[in-house]
Parts: sequence; C-alpha cells; structure tokens
Amino acid sequence: MAFKDIIKKTRTYRKFDSTYKISKNDLIDLIDNAHFSASHGNTQTLRYLIYNDEQNNTKIFSSLKWAASLPNWDGPIPSERPTAFIIILSKNINNYTFCDAGISMQTIMLSATEKKLGGCIFASIDKEKLQKDMEIDDIYKILYVIALGKPIEKVQLEVASKNLKYWRDEKDIHHVPKIPTKNLILNIEKE
Ligand SMILES: Cc1cc2nc3c(=O)[nH]c(=O)nc-3n(C[C@H](O)[C@H](O)[C@H](O)COP(=O)(O)O)c2cc1C
Repeated sequence: MAFKDIIKKTRTYRKFDSTYKISKNDLIDLIDNAHFSASHGNTQTLRYLIYNDEQNNTKIFSSLKWAASLPNWDGPIPSERPTAFIIILSKNINNYTFCDAGISMQTIMLSATEKKLGGCIFASIDKEKLQKDMEIDDIYKILYVIALGKPIEKVQLEVASKNLKYWRDEKDIHHVPKIPTKNLILNIEKE
C-alpha cells in the first residue's frame, strides 16, 4: 500500500469485532516498530503496558472517555469493544515527553493499519483510577492509552468547511472533516 493510502486508512476507530483476539506478539511488534522512532536526545523515556485479555480489557475500558464530540453515544457496546490495549507511561515528564509519545503513538497506529487492525488514542482517561486498577507503580505517570481491535465501523474523511467536529450520519458512517492542505500551509498561493 502506498504511504498516502496507509495514512488515510489510519483513522480513529471506536467500534471493533470483539471476537477478534489480538496476539501478544502483534502488540509486541507494534511497540517494536515504535522503538525505532525518534525521541528527544534519544532518551527513550516511554514505557508500555500491553493487554489482550478480557479481565484487564474490562478494567481499562472503564477508565476511558469515548468520543466527546458524540454526546449521545456512550462508547462501544460489549460486542464492539476493543480487544487489546496499550498504556503509555513515563517516569518523568518534560516539554518533549508528549511529543515523543505522539511520535510513538502514530507509529503504533500506522503499524496497526499494516496488520489490518485499528484503534483509538485516549487522553481523556481517569488516570487515578487506571493507575489503581492496573496496579501501576506510581514512579510511572500515565500519558495515554491506545485501544486496539479489528475495526467494524465505516469512517469517511471529508473536506472540512467550518465545523471540525467529527459526526455520524443516519447510516452510522463516521465522518472526519480535515482542513485542506493548502489552508494549512501559510506561505503558498491561495486560489
Ligand atoms: C492526543 C489525542 C488524544 C485523543 N483522545 C481521545 C479520547 O480521549 N477519546 C476519544 O474518543 N478519542 C480521542 N482521540 C481521537 C480523536 O478524537 C481523533 O483523532 C479525531 O477525531 C480525528 O479522527 P482521526 O484520528 O480519524 O483523524 C484522541 C486523539 C489524539 C491525537
């Protein structure tokens, strides 16, 4: 697949086939790809926890806030929940930590697409609850969670006009408005 197609396919997915199990080896491989990516001063401060079992998945799920722009949707029903999770941690947080995490997470998301998987990055997390539920040593701070699974929802990119909120139509297709490239680059001619 051309890179443009991979990045276009690397969408946020929030509905999955809950019968599709993701192997520990697949999760390790996603992080193996991320471990080759850049970090500030090559400090490699990120650490990861990986889960693919129902008991832990249920615990993690209960700390996540799904789709703030879809207030009438409470998140995926049990048969559409993610089947694996990655928790991203760091002992210390400085100005570059979240940039490193972003690079790592996009690498993980792109690698998931290559495996015909998909996911959702979470910043809206009840971190205190998650830290406690998962018995995470408090020398580590939770940065993000990535939910993963075999996507079953249809997601459509569209050209944004004014409103940048993602939305779902009557056929339950999830629409993601993106600002045209020419509007993002400040020093090119506009038509
Ligand atoms: C840093 C970051 C934090 C996010 N946090 C959440 C979240 O807490 N809950 C959620 O449902 N989606 C979350 N998302 C997913 C975004 O809503 C999603 O990326 C956006 O709607 C654009 O869709 P796209 O990823 O398909 O381009 C997050 C994405 C990023 C990059």
